[in-house]
Amino acid sequence: MVLPDHGSNPQNTYKAMDIRMPEQIVDLSANINPIGPPTGLKKIWKDLIDEIVTYPDPHSVALRKSIARKEGIEPEAILIGNGGAELIHLIGRWLSRSNVMIIHPTFSEYEKACQINDCTIHHFILKENDWDLDLNRLKVTLPKMDAVFICNPTNPTGVLYSASKLEEIIMEANNEQCCVIVDEAFYDFPLEEITVAPLVKKYTNLIVLRSMTKMFSIPGIRLGFLMAGETVVRELENYQVHWSVNGIAQRVGETLLEEKDFIRQTQYMVKKEREKLFAFFDESQFRYSPSQTNFYLLRDPSLNEQTELFRFLLENGIVSRHTHNFKGLDGRWLRFAVKGELEHGKLMDALTEWKSRP
Ligand SMILES: Cc1ncc(COP(=O)(O)O)c(C=O)c1O
Repeated sequence: MVLPDHGSNPQNTYKAMDIRMPEQIVDLSANINPIGPPTGLKKIWKDLIDEIVTYPDPHSVALRKSIARKEGIEPEAILIGNGGAELIHLIGRWLSRSNVMIIHPTFSEYEKACQINDCTIHHFILKENDWDLDLNRLKVTLPKMDAVFICNPTNPTGVLYSASKLEEIIMEANNEQCCVIVDEAFYDFPLEEITVAPLVKKYTNLIVLRSMTKMFSIPGIRLGFLMAGETVVRELENYQVHWSVNGIAQRVGETLLEEKDFIRQTQYMVKKEREKLFAFFDESQFRYSPSQTNFYLLRDPSLNEQTELFRFLLENGIVSRHTHNFKGLDGRWLRFAVKGELEHGKLMDALTEWKSRP
């Protein structure tokens, strides 16, 4: 059985588990905004056809300027990517043959991008249940590292670290000429948006990654960006395929930057739905990660490895994300996206049925 590396594309999970996919499913395996794309995007959709007859701006100048205004940094400190995933792979190439530390459990693409570029990878595995970041333990490793990857809030636990904690790491790493990559792909889902983006003006060893595909529900379009010192941005851009970010994505990105009310609405909805679910998990004795974002880990403490629950849910049309390829979790948890009331009703019904099995 070879399970897919990522969430989404549920048909692949059903195939790998050799289970017939029911006609109606609730896909909780991908951490995409349950509200769907904002109406502002739907309004411009028809006009986007104009973009397909010309080559896109290879430097995404207009979008970079808009992001720069929003983030209070220079456009030269920004690189737009064909999704955050492309930028992770550009960073991997830029780090070729370096010593890289990855804080786990985390998004598997960091390791993949570093592995294919012959990096020596060191794994810093956080203690299960609270996944707290022990700064003292991390600090002693930094002198031997060229780079360290941190995801905040962390995929898959949903744990959110404070900006001051991250700045301590960035500062310490700066003294050791070690680069810190902070992936903020989900930074805008918690009500309190924690970011270290303003620090790119202060620390040349910092790269901040963002994805626009999660909040705005556009994983099919592919759009992300990174913020870093101008020299680093130029070096990374050298590796990027010319015209990598298509014209539709660039126009869509500019429109989405205006969607402040949509983001606020999402943040309140996610918090409300997550809290309702967590109250249910407490009552029905499931364990969950202390998530502050739009996904969380769940486990039935009566099982070690959760495949039996994963299978039961799939058979009942609920698709979660396995954690076999997350170091430090190794299948002992399942990851679920926070969605709406309807989806959660179905999830709670299935979990209640699971608990009442003879
Ligand atoms: C933590 C994290 N970073 C980056 C990405 C890449 O997102 P995208 O390429 O859709 O922008 C993902 C996608 O799942 C992710 O979970």
